[in-house]
Amino acid sequence: MALVTLRQVLDEAQKGGYGVGGFNVNNMEQIQGIMEAARETNSPVILQASRGARKYANDKFLYHLMLAANEIYPNIPIVLHQDHGSKEACLSAVDLGYTSVMIDGSLLEDGKTPSPFEYNVQVTKEVVAYAHARGVSVEGELGCIGGVEDGHGMGDGASDFLTDPDQAVEFVKQTGVDALAVAIGTSHGVYKFTRKPDGEVLFMDRIVEIHKRLPNTHLVMHGSSSVPQELQDLINQYGGKIKQTWGVPVEEIQKGIQHGVRKVNVDTDTRLAITGAIRKYMSEHPEAFDPRDYLKPARELVQQVIAARMRAFGQSGHAGDYTPISA
Ligand code: G3H
Ligand code: 13P
Ligand code: ZN
Repeated sequence: MALVTLRQVLDEAQKGGYGVGGFNVNNMEQIQGIMEAARETNSPVILQASRGARKYANDKFLYHLMLAANEIYPNIPIVLHQDHGSKEACLSAVDLGYTSVMIDGSLLEDGKTPSPFEYNVQVTKEVVAYAHARGVSVEGELGCIGGVEDGHGMGDGASDFLTDPDQAVEFVKQTGVDALAVAIGTSHGVYKFTRKPDGEVLFMDRIVEIHKRLPNTHLVMHGSSSVPQELQDLINQYGGKIKQTWGVPVEEIQKGIQHGVRKVNVDTDTRLAITGAIRKYMSEHPEAFDPRDYLKPARELVQQVIAARMRAFGQSGHAGDYTPISA
């Protein structure tokens, strides 16, 4: 068994100067595609489930699919991580056996309204106390990442919700989180930017400033899908209607990794790969009706896209860096 905590993985990533993708999963094919990419590139893996994913797949199904990955790939260290948890979701993830949780205290319980700093500190501290007592790592968030945090879609411009570097120092000191998600202008989902992002919409300088003040805190970039043009084209070529959009260029993520980013969250790119591959297959095989026929190319394209990210983030070749927590 090679389950590891987020702390272990990010500490090793810091030593090695690389980043590690946090890849969202909802079903078997996504997990298989990501695990095959990890085998191909010899990478450690962070499998992460949102509250929506746990609800969609059912807690037990999803957890046991991830455990199956752990059994099937004994040489790949795997973090089982709760993505964007409420306090309740984090505690239940710890109880289920996840090795890491993200408490998203940047919003109130309604999951929409930006929370006061004191609220965020308090709820994060409570989760840290519960998780750390059970050997589980915690990621916190300060500032508002667009998209999921509805009504505060950053994309092109608004900077009011960016992470304040001085507050970040205070937040880490008061909460004791293992990793900190920072808001730097990215947003979740496919529509992030209406042009290739530059320093006016993607605030990489914030990362540099925060890292200067918190050199030993692992920083996390959310909303970091690159939304490749070729996946947009693939979907649209086969009947899709994705409007022209730009994601976070891989070279910007690499700059972040040079300045303390250790975890890079990617979900949308996997979704685009699956949709593109299925659309292509369906269009070329209108007679097809066996789901295995179109899910297989979808899984293969997930592997291809994720393997490219693993190489770009630098985690490839590092599967051997870790000591499993159960050893
Ligand atoms: O944080 C956003 C992730 O892409 C998860 O999205 O809540 O639709 O599963 P979801
Ligand atoms: P994307 O929508 O850019 O893939 O971001 C995913 C994410 O941040 C999950 O927490
Ligand atoms: Zn996120």
